[in-house]
Amino acid sequence: MLDVNKTTGAPPVIRREDYSPPDWLVPDISLDFRLGAERTIVRATLQVRRNGSHRRPLLLNSEVEAIHRVTLNGEPVNYWYEDQVLRVPIEGESATVETEVRIAPRANTQLMGLYESNAMLCTQCEAQGFRRITPFPDRPDVLSRYKLRMSGDKALYPVLLANGDLVASGEGEGGTHWAEWHDPFPKPCYLFAMVAGDLVANRDTFTTMSGRKVDLGIWVRAGDLPKTAHAMASLKAAMKWDEEVYGREYDLDIFNIVAVDDFNFGAMENKGLNIFNSRYVLADPDTATDADYDAIAGVVAHEYFHNWSGDRVTCRDWFQLSLKEGFTVFRDQSFSADMGSHAVKRIEDVKMLRAAQFPEDAGPLAHPVRPDSYIEISNFYTATVYNKGAEVIRMMHTILGPERFRAGTDLYFSRHDGQAVTCEDFVKAMEDASGVDLSHFRLWYSQAGTPRIKARLVNRTEGVHVALEQEVPPTPGQPVKQPMPIPLRIALLDEATGRPTDERLIVLDKASDEIALDGAPARPVLSINRDFSAPVIVETDRSAVDLAFLSAHDDDPFARYEAMQQLMLDTLTAAVSTGGADHAPVIEAVRQTLTDANLDPAFIAEAVLLPSESFIGDRMAVVDPEAIRARREALRADLGRTLEPLWRDAYRAHVANRYAYNPAAKGARRLKTIALGYIAATGAPDAAALAKRQYDESDNMTDRQGALGVLVNGYSAERDAALQAFYERYRTNGLVLDKWFTTQALSTRDDVLDQVEALAGHPDFTLANPNRLRSLVAAFSVNQRAFHDASGRGYRFLADMILAEDKLNPQTAAKLVPPLGRWRRFDEGRAALMRAELERMVATPGLSKDVFEQASKSLA
Ligand code: ARG
Ligand code: ZN
Repeated sequence: MLDVNKTTGAPPVIRREDYSPPDWLVPDISLDFRLGAERTIVRATLQVRRNGSHRRPLLLNSEVEAIHRVTLNGEPVNYWYEDQVLRVPIEGESATVETEVRIAPRANTQLMGLYESNAMLCTQCEAQGFRRITPFPDRPDVLSRYKLRMSGDKALYPVLLANGDLVASGEGEGGTHWAEWHDPFPKPCYLFAMVAGDLVANRDTFTTMSGRKVDLGIWVRAGDLPKTAHAMASLKAAMKWDEEVYGREYDLDIFNIVAVDDFNFGAMENKGLNIFNSRYVLADPDTATDADYDAIAGVVAHEYFHNWSGDRVTCRDWFQLSLKEGFTVFRDQSFSADMGSHAVKRIEDVKMLRAAQFPEDAGPLAHPVRPDSYIEISNFYTATVYNKGAEVIRMMHTILGPERFRAGTDLYFSRHDGQAVTCEDFVKAMEDASGVDLSHFRLWYSQAGTPRIKARLVNRTEGVHVALEQEVPPTPGQPVKQPMPIPLRIALLDEATGRPTDERLIVLDKASDEIALDGAPARPVLSINRDFSAPVIVETDRSAVDLAFLSAHDDDPFARYEAMQQLMLDTLTAAVSTGGADHAPVIEAVRQTLTDANLDPAFIAEAVLLPSESFIGDRMAVVDPEAIRARREALRADLGRTLEPLWRDAYRAHVANRYAYNPAAKGARRLKTIALGYIAATGAPDAAALAKRQYDESDNMTDRQGALGVLVNGYSAERDAALQAFYERYRTNGLVLDKWFTTQALSTRDDVLDQVEALAGHPDFTLANPNRLRSLVAAFSVNQRAFHDASGRGYRFLADMILAEDKLNPQTAAKLVPPLGRWRRFDEGRAALMRAELERMVATPGLSKDVFEQASKSLA
């Protein structure tokens, strides 16, 4: 293995504090591709300029198949290639360096660099894929103007796309053709992209705020064209929204999106040529759920918004990743909230944070939003960098208010346009534009771990106070923490009238504090962290009565949802530790919510759902997967039985609807299937038939998958029939087949492990496609009861899958490791089995540094 410490054998650690500016700049590059799936020849001409006074050679990262030639100012040069770096000695202050290399797209199973997917050639360069295409200083602070020419077989690759503008094209010899693209905006190489394939486009136009017409194209396989309408509508809405909310106008004459089936993550914001996992482009009612539609809108917007927050202003180094990702996630969350329901979107975003980021922050892979070190940067595209990063931006928005926040982003974009900058530069722009001192706030970038707040009301002679304490837990490398500034929206609700008083924003910036609340009613109930104003865990001494009251009356929808969740969580954790608990307060609160005619069905649907098994586990000292499953199912059954007439009403109220895509119809579909789940939980004899009828009669994937998800937990004949019908109907549609795998992996049946192992041997299962791998393996690893089977079979299955995938695609393999790193949270028996799998991985010869980093850190 290259790239290892010669004495310890461990791959090297890259540290943020070691940053130094590039020795050489590359203001211009021109590229010439002779395309072929087996072999592609890449010639690059780099205009390089010495940066600062030093005598060091030009270093080019290079991970290509073969280097054919390197010349300096047109002459052969004595270069040196070692440890995947090509060193070119240069005398003058500037020079022209030319290279010719060979790469092999079809053999590229890592899906980084130039690779083949479904006979199409496409690229993925972030973070460090460009070095797999051509030798280059592969770091985000080297910005270049790109000119590109590509030629290839016209029949295989009738469409040739790249960043920027198409400046020329023509026919070549032997059935080939060529195209030249120039991108006028200097960019780091991670934003380079090109595509060659047999594609068709959904074309449209957008007229920008200054009246420029932009040609839009969404490129897919011919048969998929009818599934691009939603992505196109989302793109145009996002372009408009960014003009209105951030004053950001698109800057090129062309904006293209290409859908690719084999893709390591969601999508990529390459300048003017976004490349997407096809699951975030393709949708029609028959094949995509409402959640898919929402995700498409969110990801299309996210990648488009990167044009400013990422492309025009980019990152100085990869430790600053959250500069673009946290900010852009915040932007896409705000966009989606504006397009639909703010309340429901906030609940969804918090659920996601709690499912993915809180466990990360509480485990061995915890790292700050701005990490201090890494072995493999791909491992840091995490929920912390993305989702907690978005919460950090949101807190600045909350503290500054919308006007000053906008002044801050205006200053940030104008001050740093065309630059590669740091998280510090972003905060500085916020401070300079607003006059608000954020020095203490910067701790959110440097300290890892989820703060825990204790809050309670106390009666003093002067009146009611809220007493607050905070604690930031130790995380790897950070044993002792400073108190953080925590913005908390609070209010008091009057238990007599249900009305709120004194809503305000307080910032807890000490270990403990007490704040007087004016105008408190006689019987005040504390509403805190309203709208989830800070990404923290709040513990209060509120009783079940208080929580039930808030769940019926809090005027802040998030706080209302949260009160219900807390009530459910308290009930379930009590049930797990004592073997039973009083369900009555939860049942009453659910009854109230279900019958509240003023509530939006989409909100009701979220509110009446029990917290997930893993979220319950996260709140326990030692996770007991069997007890959590049993107690949660018992409460579900009780809720189902006690409120059965209400569930049946809710089901009937929404069942006859014809498909429409709008917020009300989506909310109705969601509530209907949740009601179906509760009816099934009662064990009612007609439940399977009801679900099967929904499956058979529905005119959309949301209802069909919803019905399947209910059936799959049981043992009915309808279950097998529906699974079979689903498979037959969709076997040729990869994205839908993924749902078939996922639904089975998430089943609550006791034999799910057998099923998952059998599915891994199914002819449609493949390690080569990341979506398919995740559809089974990643889904299974969040099925807490099944994955944590006391036998250790689930752990072994996951480790086997990771090791097999690592040979093909280390980046995607490494993403599957974190569930095994949670061993500290389980009993000794499970912990030992989990550690044994991690140790087995670390001891495997030829292990990638990607998996090595995740597995070795998980053992610490
Ligand atoms: N920048 C892309 C996005 O968030 C994702 C790139 C992920 N890269 C990686 N190496 N995991 O929009
Ligand atoms: Zn992004």
